[in-house]
Amino acid sequence: MVSLSVSLTTFSHSQLLHSGAVLSGLQTMAFFTHQVIRGLSSSAVRNAAIKHVTIIGGGQMGAGIAQVAATTGHSVVLVDTNEEILKKSAKGIEGSLKRVVKKKFADKPDAGAEFIAKVMANVSISTDAASVVGSTDLVLEAIVENLKIKQGLFGALDKVAPAHTIFASNTSSLPITDIASSTSRLDRFGGLHFFNPVPMMKLVEVIGTSATSQETFDSLLAFSKALGKTPVSCKDTPGFIVNRLLVPYMMEAIRLHERGHGSKEDIDIAMKLGAGYPMGPFELLDYVGLDTAKFIMDGWVEKDPDNPLMQPSEMLNKLVAEGKFGKKTGEGFYKYK
Ligand SMILES: NC(=O)c1ccc[n+]([C@@H]2O[C@H](COP(=O)([O-])OP(=O)(O)OC[C@H]3O[C@@H](n4cnc5c(N)ncnc54)[C@H](O)[C@@H]3O)[C@@H](O)[C@H]2O)c1
Repeated sequence: MVSLSVSLTTFSHSQLLHSGAVLSGLQTMAFFTHQVIRGLSSSAVRNAAIKHVTIIGGGQMGAGIAQVAATTGHSVVLVDTNEEILKKSAKGIEGSLKRVVKKKFADKPDAGAEFIAKVMANVSISTDAASVVGSTDLVLEAIVENLKIKQGLFGALDKVAPAHTIFASNTSSLPITDIASSTSRLDRFGGLHFFNPVPMMKLVEVIGTSATSQETFDSLLAFSKALGKTPVSCKDTPGFIVNRLLVPYMMEAIRLHERGHGSKEDIDIAMKLGAGYPMGPFELLDYVGLDTAKFIMDGWVEKDPDNPLMQPSEMLNKLVAEGKFGKKTGEGFYKYK
């Protein structure tokens, strides 16, 4: 059951008080709530457990996070730019749940259908973020990887979200500090970096900036655990932990190949059989997307041009210029049918 507006029936009493559904709509009350609480210093605003989550961006990552949050009993509003995308996201979540049910409830189709209905009842969709954040504990952003657009979104929501609401970004490569700078809630801003596909991948990198309060950080850690994930604590440094190690490794594999020191097939075989990695670096690059890898590397080179681990690659640039982004375009380092 996915409605196009916020499903008020799933709200608790206190959330209803905050939502202002009995007044003149969520947006009005969000503004009212903000006005009431803005006088309090941020340290006076306590972060209770995160129960209601607004996820902005219903793409690969946002839909995956929404599925996991709804499955673990959180009330979720999924926001994107148009209803068509959101309907696709909801359909994707339902399809993914059906695959879970096939395994988990193989002999009990009724229990499986009940499970899906229960999870989907926790998800609402909306095209208007400002109108749905009035009762949310966490705004988690998973939109396009563009600093200005992310800053614009958070800057606007900062004006209408309640003071207790924590903001978090799922960015892979942008500094959380830079994204947070468009808001006035630096102490209630952090990073939650999930991995693709979200329902399968156990890790969440929880990122604190120098301004993130301990209370906010603890809430984000607790939320990650409540999702059934394993969180690790990260500083707001390029690539956090996983990409900081993985991207230079993949780039060095390309350079090794560029120097003529190994074929891509041999390098992939070597890392799978010699290092026990499930995929070789070229297979992984094609899976991640060469455009994404280049985007991350270019950002790092700009910030740290003298770091030998962060250097561009002609081969990668050429493939991206030719539109060969990997699996998603049918060709990257390898060809796909
Ligand atoms: N794909 C990955 O493997 C991966 C892994 C970890 C983190 N991330 C990060 O997650 C974020 C999203 O990545 P993705 O792969 O899900 O992208 P995606 O392109 O699949 O989805 C992005 C969605 O955001 C929507 N969107 C764009 N601007 C919007 C706005 N202003 N308001 C509401 N919705 C908006 C788009 O319509 C789209 O549906 C990026 O910051 C990316 O760096 C991606």
